[in-house]
Amino acid sequence: MYRAVVKGFGGIDQLVIEDGPTPAPGPGEVVVRLTSIGMNHAELMARRGEYRLVSGNPPFIPGLEGGGIIEAVGEGVSDAPRAEQQRTVGQRVVLTLDAPASRGLGQGTYQSHYVVAADKTVLAPAAIADELLGALWLPFLTAWGCLVWKQNIQPGARVLIPAASSSVAIAASQVVKYYGGLAVGTTTRPEKVERLAALPEARFDHIVVTHTPNWWREAKKLTAGKGFDVIFDPVAAGAFLNQEIRLLAPHGTLWIYGLLGTPDTVDVTPLIRKMASIRGWLLNEIAASGSEQSAYRHVLDRIADGTYTLPVAQTFSLRDVQTAHAVMERGEHLGKLILVP
Ligand SMILES: NC(=O)c1ccc[n+]([C@@H]2O[C@H](COP(=O)([O-])OP(=O)(O)OC[C@H]3O[C@@H](n4cnc5c(N)ncnc54)[C@H](OP(=O)(O)O)[C@@H]3O)[C@@H](O)[C@H]2O)c1
Repeated sequence: MYRAVVKGFGGIDQLVIEDGPTPAPGPGEVVVRLTSIGMNHAELMARRGEYRLVSGNPPFIPGLEGGGIIEAVGEGVSDAPRAEQQRTVGQRVVLTLDAPASRGLGQGTYQSHYVVAADKTVLAPAAIADELLGALWLPFLTAWGCLVWKQNIQPGARVLIPAASSSVAIAASQVVKYYGGLAVGTTTRPEKVERLAALPEARFDHIVVTHTPNWWREAKKLTAGKGFDVIFDPVAAGAFLNQEIRLLAPHGTLWIYGLLGTPDTVDVTPLIRKMASIRGWLLNEIAASGSEQSAYRHVLDRIADGTYTLPVAQTFSLRDVQTAHAVMERGEHLGKLILVP
């Protein structure tokens, strides 16, 4: 087996590949040969030392998601009391949201083989390709969990989706259209508008570029001046957040789910007149909520029947992890970057 390890906080040169013996499963555990590891912005932050709460200190193995094929099972796994708990060699699975955390700090998924408790795996439908198995939760559960599970968007909801080219935002465009809403994306880069319009997975009704100070007026026109009922935002800081607050409709909700922006002073007083709210969203809330299995099933079933489609920007060998991080850092991609061990 091999894995990618962050040796010290810093640049891509801190990511090194280490080879070692393939691990054996303990009682109640399985070994999953990972065929897919979805990359996330959080891993860049972890490598730079900006996300210590999740990564811990170096050396650590990054990675929040993964999926693959069960290669070995430990004692008690194939004959577990309930049929849905049983796992056997050859089954295709997705690791649950809390699988990396269950292994302890810094035991992420950038590994060719992953040892984990059998109940931290979800069986995957045959219709989903091996290469996608480890890249579905962060885009689709972040979007669906916030917009549907928490916000319960209804047909006709007007939804603003910043950072339109990210995998989470593209997934959000699909969720909003599936539930009958209006999806307006924003991007910081004018050259991405045509590329997004040509991308079948990006189902935005409109894309607005945010490089002029008055971009928000253009966005508001798209709602016939009413503003947005929901803003689903990973930037949410400084001048951009001020403009978003102006864009909220009466009783609207702005969900903050990322840390891409640079913090600065914000005027929240318009929230009073609009009776609007700003709330935070972390998809980990789904993990131990009691409804996590139905959330997993929703995403897997909708991917399997083609309702949702993961936009894959590029795949890399896990051994080329340095190149993959450099590509993500450049930010020219549309959609998901995937590591394949
Ligand atoms: N809360 C949660 O549970 C949760 C779960 C998953 C992900 N996230 C967060 O979601 C965000 C997107 O994740 P990802 O992995 O999909 O990232 P990604 O693929 O790296 O996409 C990032 C995109 O964000 C935009 N962007 C980057 N820096 C920006 C800035 N300073 N101001 C405005 N826009 C900026 C760019 O899009 P344009 O070029 O189109 O502007 C960029 O392509 C990250 O912040 C991540 O931490 C949160």
